[in-house]
Amino acid sequence: MGAAISGSGAEPRKRAVRCQTVPNRSYEPGQAAAGQPPRLAARVLENLGSDRVIANLEVSGPGFINVTVTDAAILERLAARAADARLGVGSNAEAGVTVIDYSQPNIAKEMHVGHLRSTIIGDALVRALEFTGEKVIRRNHRGDWGTQFGMLIQYLIEHPTELDEGTEPDDSGPSMSRLNRLYKASRAKFDSDADFADRARRRVVELQAGHAETVASWQGMVDESKVYFEAVYARLGVLLEDADAVGESYYNPMLADVCADLEASGVAVRSDGALCVFFEDIKGPNGEPTPLIVQKSDGGYGYATTDLAAIRDRVGMLGANQLLYVVDSRQALHFQMVFETARRAGWLPDNVRALHLGFGTVLGKDGKPKTRSGETVRLMDLLDEAVDRARTVVAEKSPQLASEELEDRAKQVGIGAVKYADLSTSRTRDYIFDADRMVSLNGDTGTYLQYAYARIQSILRKAPEGVTPTAHQDLALEPAERALGLLLDEFGATIELVAETFEPHRLCAYLHSLAAAYTTFYEHCPVLKAPSREVMETRLLLCQLTGQTLRQGMDLLGIGTPERF
Ligand code: ARG
Repeated sequence: MGAAISGSGAEPRKRAVRCQTVPNRSYEPGQAAAGQPPRLAARVLENLGSDRVIANLEVSGPGFINVTVTDAAILERLAARAADARLGVGSNAEAGVTVIDYSQPNIAKEMHVGHLRSTIIGDALVRALEFTGEKVIRRNHRGDWGTQFGMLIQYLIEHPTELDEGTEPDDSGPSMSRLNRLYKASRAKFDSDADFADRARRRVVELQAGHAETVASWQGMVDESKVYFEAVYARLGVLLEDADAVGESYYNPMLADVCADLEASGVAVRSDGALCVFFEDIKGPNGEPTPLIVQKSDGGYGYATTDLAAIRDRVGMLGANQLLYVVDSRQALHFQMVFETARRAGWLPDNVRALHLGFGTVLGKDGKPKTRSGETVRLMDLLDEAVDRARTVVAEKSPQLASEELEDRAKQVGIGAVKYADLSTSRTRDYIFDADRMVSLNGDTGTYLQYAYARIQSILRKAPEGVTPTAHQDLALEPAERALGLLLDEFGATIELVAETFEPHRLCAYLHSLAAAYTTFYEHCPVLKAPSREVMETRLLLCQLTGQTLRQGMDLLGIGTPERF
């Protein structure tokens, strides 16, 4: 069983010893006198008697020690976990402050599947880190600034009503429909009308100078996009709030200062009029060094400058000692250069960790990226598709459901399925968006977990009056009960692992094996028809704790657990 469980108090972030028999990989036969693991292991055994916890010890192979814990010890741990609101998972006393940058949609643009992944993964990491005791500050680094706004605002000012006429709300709602039309119309004008393009460029200058009418128009677009983003967040059920939306525009007033400091310290140098940071090991295809441009030769600032200002703010003002960025893997080089620049400038001291948590691409069933083939796939369409499939699955299982309840459950199942499919693949890999597979009741799906949870609740509801889940510690356990009990004990260690590796798929894999171990237990060990009251109560406790663990675990993934299916 995992060593890191305590009823209360702190679980250390690093476990010194794990009570698992793993081979000593560095051992090579005949390496040294001390390198006689079988004899050493035998001596360890001589000094460890069996007691209440250890039922049996045995040397095996080249120095493994197999430890068998007693049934009583397993039952005791289960009882303690079941009695604790945190299921016996401690929190980290040395927790720090993490700023996590995720979701990051762009104003006046449709969100795409890349933003979906960032939102889902970021949300799960926030939940896991917070559960370990970390102070987490969410930053939705929205793309709400840049030259494209000149074009949009100029068009809007010249055609104040045109966009309202005949606006049919599209699938992502009236706001996005309006903004999509605005984007297309102004882009077309910008590309075909040189005078308009000039006016649009002047508009950017006015925006940066804080010209009232221009800023008001920009704000209107931000607000309109917000309506759409919030609809997506509400549909997904994520933690992001308005206060977390600190977009690129927030850092705009700091950019001149960032550049001046970089130039003064010599971290950045002028090259063909632009202010650049060079790196020895980063070269373009032609072998020439590729710099990070922090100020363009026309005086404009870019994406990188904003990220540098954000680092200064997050470390200096927010007191972060860990910075996480949940962004598409294709931006790896950008973050490598930004972090290195910030280190050189002293804004990212050695005791602050900065990590780009990249992720792979979402593919269609044809194996092609969902974002790249022609028209971007609308996020809301993908979510609707999953909810539709879920509705069919739920209606089949529960034909008696009233339509409102069916809708509610279809949403939990469909959205849960999308999240689980995203989180259960290792973060950096691409995956195929296949709504049918996602909502399958058998397999590695969120739906399977939700179904397992609901089945457990149904058994608990059927328990006879006066029979309460209790671990009777003198009972002998069946192998399937032991296996389930030992797995339940791994929950705390799994969460710790997720928080250390930033890999939610480890929690998915754990929950999936837990549901599978429960199924085996349920097949071999009758609960409501158990041979005695003690056995029934003990098995009910196993059911209850499995349910609690599934619910808590899925909650950390942001996935709902309907009580009935
Ligand atoms: N808005 C950007 C995009 O859609 C992602 C921003 C990522 N975060 C950051 N701090 N650079 O590609």
